[in-house]
Amino acid sequence: MTSNLEAQLLALQQEGEQAIAAADTLEGLEELRVSYLGKKGQLGALLRSMGQMSAEERPKIGAIANTVKESLQTSLDKQRAALEAAKIQAQLEAETLDVTMPGIFRPQGRIHPLNGIIDQAFDIFVGMGYTVAQGPEMETDYYNFEALNTPPDHPARDMQDTFYLPDGNLLRTHTSSVQIRYMEKEEPPIRVVAPGRVYRRDNVDATHSAVFHQIELLAIDEGLTFTDLKGTIKMFLQAMFGDLPIRFRASYFPFTEPSAEVDLQWNGRWLEVMGCGMVDPNVMKSVGYDPEIYTGFAAGFGVERFAMVLHQIDDIRRLYASDLRFLRQF
Ligand code: DAH
Repeated sequence: MTSNLEAQLLALQQEGEQAIAAADTLEGLEELRVSYLGKKGQLGALLRSMGQMSAEERPKIGAIANTVKESLQTSLDKQRAALEAAKIQAQLEAETLDVTMPGIFRPQGRIHPLNGIIDQAFDIFVGMGYTVAQGPEMETDYYNFEALNTPPDHPARDMQDTFYLPDGNLLRTHTSSVQIRYMEKEEPPIRVVAPGRVYRRDNVDATHSAVFHQIELLAIDEGLTFTDLKGTIKMFLQAMFGDLPIRFRASYFPFTEPSAEVDLQWNGRWLEVMGCGMVDPNVMKSVGYDPEIYTGFAAGFGVERFAMVLHQIDDIRRLYASDLRFLRQF
């Protein structure tokens, strides 16, 4: 009886170790562990028959059973470690990157030259403490003209051929309308730039477009003077164009007094680049600001004009043509 059980135990060990060594997946190995050492496993089944054994046989068989159990457990551990290592190795091999493979060409977008100018201007003005505002392209007569000290019979209205809509509204002719909208909402001190599309009934040619872009500049505070205006414009233009000669030429705009146009010496020629001036007291009054307390300055310039000068573009229409041969150069 004893030797029979002992032989069975040893046979189980031998058979188990062979099966374990042959296991080629972790799942298969786990099945073997359950089959041999599990609660309802083969080793347990053999040991349950120990109940019929005599008291002196029992410790001997018990010791053999322990050796068998430990031996099987050691084999299981060893095989598990080997299978795990093989699994990682296989994974490493399968996921190897071939860094010598040719890459996939992905075309890269670019900043449109007009957006480039707008971004550059923002950077410069934000650096001087300005914020950015926007207003609608479809405007009322009030914001585009009236509140900017340009009543219906004012001759300055002829300077800007306006697109009128059937309902009496219009397409804004300049970004100066944003000055009024911004001042109505905010209180001084104000430092703001407003970019946007503007519309004029111009015939399209190399230097004119019926739709173009402007950037408006407005500063309102106590004690702002023409010197502040000149300093700000000068800093801006030098940051955009480099250290070039600049001159302020007296001019006229209904919404500024005094008004000036700014010229820049570019390739030996004086180029007109922007309009500006001290905000007219009537404009202040139209938004409820007291012109005895506040003064301010404003300026406006055309984005296309800046782009054409800076990038030596000879025809404004190139900026709208979406021709990649042109756009890839920026
Ligand atoms: N709105 C003017 C135009 O479109 C440009 C301009 C001139 C804007 C003087 C201003 C300014 O803010 O002060 O021609």
